[in-house]
Amino acid sequence: MDGGTPTAEATSGRASRRDVAILKFLAAAELIETDLWQQYAELALDNPGFSEALEQIDDDLGIYTVDITEDELSHARFINAFLKSLGEQPVSLAQFETLMPPSVTGLRQVGRLTNLTRLTVDTSYYLRYRSTRNPDFGFEPPQIATINGRPAIPTSNSLSDRQLSGIAQTAAFHFPSIEQGGTSLYDQFVPFVSDRQVLRIVSSIYATEAIHYAIFRDSLTGVPGFDSGDGKLMIPNLTEGRRQSSYGAQTALLTLREMEAALARLPDDQREVLVMVALSGMSYQDCAAVLGMPVGTVMSRLARGREFLRQVLEGNMAAGAEPLLRRVK
Ligand SMILES: [Fe+2]
Ligand SMILES: [Fe+2]
Repeated sequence: MDGGTPTAEATSGRASRRDVAILKFLAAAELIETDLWQQYAELALDNPGFSEALEQIDDDLGIYTVDITEDELSHARFINAFLKSLGEQPVSLAQFETLMPPSVTGLRQVGRLTNLTRLTVDTSYYLRYRSTRNPDFGFEPPQIATINGRPAIPTSNSLSDRQLSGIAQTAAFHFPSIEQGGTSLYDQFVPFVSDRQVLRIVSSIYATEAIHYAIFRDSLTGVPGFDSGDGKLMIPNLTEGRRQSSYGAQTALLTLREMEAALARLPDDQREVLVMVALSGMSYQDCAAVLGMPVGTVMSRLARGREFLRQVLEGNMAAGAEPLLRRVK
């Protein structure tokens, strides 16, 4: 793909070849995300040992793997349907679904794109987005855990509770890393989309990926810690922070989920501006050029979007508004 900066003519109303290439790349990424989450969701629903081990970390972790699988599937289907509407070939990775998963309770025995039985996870995201130091200026966030060639799903039906705990904690560390990948992909592509409709799709899904990341990152405060003894799996106990926090992890998780629902309810024109400026870090000028509107309009949409989110987070939604989300315990 060629580079370049967004320009005012970027709003011509026709998806460019670059837009189509971006959509196809994202459709493939969504299919891979779906494949990963589907395995986790099947086990969270139908493998009692795995689902109990997830619950030890966070009551809602299992349910959330199911919710997110639906999200990822809808992202892939939506992008593919849009590609078809443009007269383009939708993306399929079916020919690569050749990896058989372990034969354990709950996991459908069908070919998969990904193998979750030997994962090495980069855990530097845990500190990357909370540090005051900037990775662009040489800061290399350290690994908070070591996960080296370890299973993130049960590999047999006769595992001990302790083994299942190590597996669930590995999975819990893998969850945000999947969503960090999704978020950063959309982040990279937003400034290079030219068609308005494509931009709306890319910025909407981007926001969802970012919230997913934040939710799973937050659930790690329920990780009790693990040491396999051979140096391949070393996870610190992160529950200390939760106990000390007056805010509480559960409250934070609820807020993030409210934020996700609030973003979904934001009018499209406010959401795309919020995503471009607040998440992607684009300047008001670039954002205005991409959207083909005055800078003042960008600023007022941004202000309205922020105000909407602020009201939601403070619980000040207008009387009669539907509750944003089911309650969590
Ligand atoms: Fe996705
Ligand atoms: Fe995702």
